[in-house]
Amino acid sequence: MAGGAIVDTAGGKQYPGKLTLYVVFTCVVASTGGLIFGYDIGISGGVTSMDPFLLKFFPEVYRQKQAASKSNQYCQYDNQLLQAFTSSLYLAALVASFFASAVTRILGRKWSMLAGGFTFLVGAALNGAAQNVAMLIVGRMLLGVGIGFANQSVPVYLSEMAPAHLRGMLNIGFQLMITIGILAAELINYGTNKIKGGHGWRVSLALAAVPAVIITVGALFLPDTPNSLMERGHPEASRRMLRRIRGTDDIGEEYADLVAAREISKQVQHPWRNILMRKYRAQLTMAVLIPFFQQVSGINVINFYAPVLFETLGFKGDASLLSSVMTGGVLVLGSVVSMFTVDRLGRRKLFLQGGAQMLVSQIAVGTLIAVRFGTSGVGEMPRGYAAAVVLFICVYVAGFVWSWGALGWLVPSEIFPLEIRSAGQSITVSVNMLFTFVIAQAFLTMLCHMKFGLFYFFAGWVVIMTAFVALFLPETKNVPMEEMVLVWKGHWFWSRFIGDADDIHTGVNVLGK
Ligand code: BGC
Repeated sequence: MAGGAIVDTAGGKQYPGKLTLYVVFTCVVASTGGLIFGYDIGISGGVTSMDPFLLKFFPEVYRQKQAASKSNQYCQYDNQLLQAFTSSLYLAALVASFFASAVTRILGRKWSMLAGGFTFLVGAALNGAAQNVAMLIVGRMLLGVGIGFANQSVPVYLSEMAPAHLRGMLNIGFQLMITIGILAAELINYGTNKIKGGHGWRVSLALAAVPAVIITVGALFLPDTPNSLMERGHPEASRRMLRRIRGTDDIGEEYADLVAAREISKQVQHPWRNILMRKYRAQLTMAVLIPFFQQVSGINVINFYAPVLFETLGFKGDASLLSSVMTGGVLVLGSVVSMFTVDRLGRRKLFLQGGAQMLVSQIAVGTLIAVRFGTSGVGEMPRGYAAAVVLFICVYVAGFVWSWGALGWLVPSEIFPLEIRSAGQSITVSVNMLFTFVIAQAFLTMLCHMKFGLFYFFAGWVVIMTAFVALFLPETKNVPMEEMVLVWKGHWFWSRFIGDADDIHTGVNVLGK
């Protein structure tokens, strides 16, 4: 490492340079990769609650729904094929992220984004034109491949472009775009539901092409990150890019750290085998557990099935879409809160506060539903009562989005050393997709069997994951990415997995300890 690191009071080292317009611009463009993910999350719930869609593709569910209006409210949408429509995408994304890992490592982050946008575009076209369930599901698989590529490359791209002290803010642009995508999708569903002739669902599905075009065209103009250029053996291009994005010629120190990271990464022939080494145990654990916990918080139950859930609670048609628009609005606002607090408060405080808020509101929702519907699922909800349920759901969503939502992508993208970064991010994406799939596939059946207890079930996970953060996740704010190893070395638990020889390229302890 070049000498003269400035150790700041918050625990990180600061390289010279400023936030340039160029970085802001590239990060805004790259973040739009989140739109395709968000649009998809938001669109499927609304579409699956539209009667013309059900009648065309899932007539059995339609009949079941009609028959259920006077009987068990918990079970009216319980159908495996309908759930496969929602969840097939996530399996495809899971598989795709492994291919995306090789693309981001060998060709760069940019090509991975481009591939993602383009595949998503084809999937959107197929879905909009769907004549049968097969077309629907194949289309969704292509959307999934697109999301696998985008989620693999975008968070890492953002973290690498950003100066360390603003990395949280710029990275959370991804979460902001996810939530804007969700909100846009919910508003679109609300509008298309009113289209006469029963083709509204088609418009909803086809409009996924809009975010796909945005990221595809955007990616064409994006430069690659200095880290990726260095990793791929272009040191001069890397140096030029670093100068450009930091807006100064004084990049010697950051550049030297990149060179050192590259030296290590050259020795690593097999990132997949390497990530299993003892010294990476902390990163591997986080790559698996952070996305797992993010999903078992239960958030996607709300995102996918909010309209269905609200209908179950007694809101009819329009009202249920409106309620989900409300939760979409909270998602966007909460992401903004996270963007502007994450580099000041740090990651841990947001995780712990958000966890507490989610816990209280989940218990409240479960209890309110229990009181009205009991275990039989038969009952009605007076307006004021249902409004209280919606309110607590919004409190829950806010707590999620500024903690696990935003940080569930930020933290994994910033903790892997260069030599295992692409592989690590793939694990994060695929675990995320696997459990998004499990929740999407199982939720309607779980609601049918576990009833209001489902909310207590998720609350239990929130307790476990919050305790996990308290004990095992060190603070990463302000620490340069290629210096992150020192954070683990300074941690009471993870330090035992890292030997002195693993202290890689730096001689300076950025923690100032
Ligand atoms: C999660 C998604 C979730 C979204 C919005 C993202 O961080 O990965 O599963 O739907 O936030 O709530």
